[in-house]
Amino acid sequence: MDQLEKKISSLDKSRMPVHVAMIMDGNGRWAKQQGFARSDGHTEGISTVHRVTKMSSDLGIKYLTLYAFSTENWNRPSDEVATLMYLIGWAIERELPELLSNNVRIHLLGDIERIPEEPRQKLFYARDSSAHCTGMQLNICLSYSSRWEITDAARKLAKLAAEGKIEPDSITEEMVADNLTTTGMPDPDLLIRTGGEERVSNYLLWQIAYSELYFTPVLWPDFSNEEYVDAIIDFQNRERRFGKTSEQVQNNE
Ligand code: IPE
Ligand code: IPE
Ligand code: MG
Repeated sequence: MDQLEKKISSLDKSRMPVHVAMIMDGNGRWAKQQGFARSDGHTEGISTVHRVTKMSSDLGIKYLTLYAFSTENWNRPSDEVATLMYLIGWAIERELPELLSNNVRIHLLGDIERIPEEPRQKLFYARDSSAHCTGMQLNICLSYSSRWEITDAARKLAKLAAEGKIEPDSITEEMVADNLTTTGMPDPDLLIRTGGEERVSNYLLWQIAYSELYFTPVLWPDFSNEEYVDAIIDFQNRERRFGKTSEQVQNNE
């Protein structure tokens, strides 16, 4: 049994995270370290996406949500944005057959209309082709930011109120959640950020209210399956109290 298999077998199968979210950070620094162009870091990062997706599906994770491109990333140099858009289209096309054979359902979160036509069509094709899949749900966040999403939800609810379809005073947390891009999904149990920054960068702000946060200095292209399992082991050692006392949690109250 190798090191990875040993770690996997040490996991408590009854306490697996249902939903894992990831901020895939550090591609640029990885490339710089190797003396490569930033775009090479993004290309290398796609291999990690491939590996992490397969690993998640094999571990029985139900939802994997990946931050691939933020609203703020549109402000990067235009050649880097163009490369990222090209790579996103290329990667989804290349990965689709294996995703389908692993029964993975693809879901797109974000302002997808802003993605250029060619990669956008490839993304829609992948999403639609996987609609029948019943295994893990892979959420790809593109042109996504939490403030964009929450503002959009506020706009939708305001319209319903203006049309007299709902009462402003009757707006509940569930109604807000139902108008986010993650509607119908459980909140992430575990949020992993690679690349060493200990911040959330406008990601799933509403949904991570009670997620366990895991930060690692490892750069995304170097993020191994072993490190992924380490993050889950760390998660399993935490006590999730949701505002209650430790005693209440231990007595299952
Ligand atoms: C994450 O890597 C990928 C995207 C944001 C698209 P970065 O490109 O942010 O890499 P660093 O943070 O500059 O190393
Ligand atoms: C967060 O990484 C966004 C993605 C991984 C897609 P950034 O590199 O954009 O985050 P900041 O700018 O360091 O906060
Ligand atoms: Mg970064």
